[in-house]
Amino acid sequence: MLTRRDWLTLTAGAGAALTLNPKMLFALQAQPLIKRAIPSSGEEIPIIGLGSSATFAQIARQEDLDAVRGVLDTLVKEGGTVFDTAPSYGASEEVAGRVAAELGHTERIFWATKVNVAGRGNNRADPAAARAQIDTSFSRLKKNPIDLIQVHNLGDVPTQLGILKELKAEGRIRYIGVTSTSEQQYPELERIMQSEPLDFIGVDYAIDNREVENRILPLAQERKIGVLVYLPFGRTRLWSRVKGREVPEWAKEFDATTWAQFFLKFIAAHPAVTCITPATSQPRNMADNIGGGRGRLPDEAMRKRMVELVDSLPSA
Ligand SMILES: NC(=O)c1ccc[n+]([C@@H]2O[C@H](COP(=O)([O-])OP(=O)(O)OC[C@H]3O[C@@H](n4cnc5c(N)ncnc54)[C@H](OP(=O)(O)O)[C@@H]3O)[C@@H](O)[C@H]2O)c1
Repeated sequence: MLTRRDWLTLTAGAGAALTLNPKMLFALQAQPLIKRAIPSSGEEIPIIGLGSSATFAQIARQEDLDAVRGVLDTLVKEGGTVFDTAPSYGASEEVAGRVAAELGHTERIFWATKVNVAGRGNNRADPAAARAQIDTSFSRLKKNPIDLIQVHNLGDVPTQLGILKELKAEGRIRYIGVTSTSEQQYPELERIMQSEPLDFIGVDYAIDNREVENRILPLAQERKIGVLVYLPFGRTRLWSRVKGREVPEWAKEFDATTWAQFFLKFIAAHPAVTCITPATSQPRNMADNIGGGRGRLPDEAMRKRMVELVDSLPSA
């Protein structure tokens, strides 16, 4: 857990633009970080983690890695463990593996990486290339077994998930899954969820992007598949929607004091969700996001109110 002094350091320098209220965040921080069980094993993981495309990938390619250190350290000190990455996220996988080792966090982190040498379409994956990519992930992340490897964007699932199933059986990977953040792929995703022994799926879900609520999340519950939530802020979409607006007073009823917590708590309140992995390049945003996994969560009536509010705001 961060100390009060850590908080002051994290929030220093943000000046008038600071939307976090350190006092309220400190009170929220006293509440435990919610955990959810991975359905296939019962193992509990913290509901908020860290993603590593977008802005995290930007800080990972800088020469000065202080920001990466700060974000990873905040994740772990605040009680988070899940780090979602992929070989295709620029320097993210390599740099995070190296920095986590320097900080002594390698074993604490639940590493969720991906495999895909086939791209998004119907291309076939060369099995040797897929295995080589996985070997590179092992050397970058420095943890054996790796906690989770998923087939990225449903690229050649028969070949690549086949390899993951083999590696899981050998004890080299603890959990396996597939990811898709494209609605056009959802019918295929459903077929795979029905027919394959998946521990996880990774999908896009946000307060203004709720398509997965219709079929994917209920199916995950039925088939006992864990759900990692991607794009919880729609990257920049939700930020432009609430720009210049205050978080409503009634959000305090479920302990949300910032927009990040408002958006994350909406997702966390869905029972199918196992972990949400927003990306950030800033330690104070990492701490803010973890706050989205502490305290009360909105009930169904409150979730409806939240949706009504966001739906009433102009989209960019
Ligand atoms: N197909 C797939 O498998 C797939 C596809 C998409 C995403 N993903 C995974 O999901 C992760 C999350 O998605 P994403 O990175 O695309 O988008 P996202 O998490 O929805 O949004 C990231 C953006 O939100 C900002 N942000 C984060 N925390 C904030 C806070 N507390 N206050 C204000 N701004 C905040 C970040 O800027 P700052 O840096 O300034 O905080 C960044 O611009 C990815 O990083 C990746 O790991 C997987």
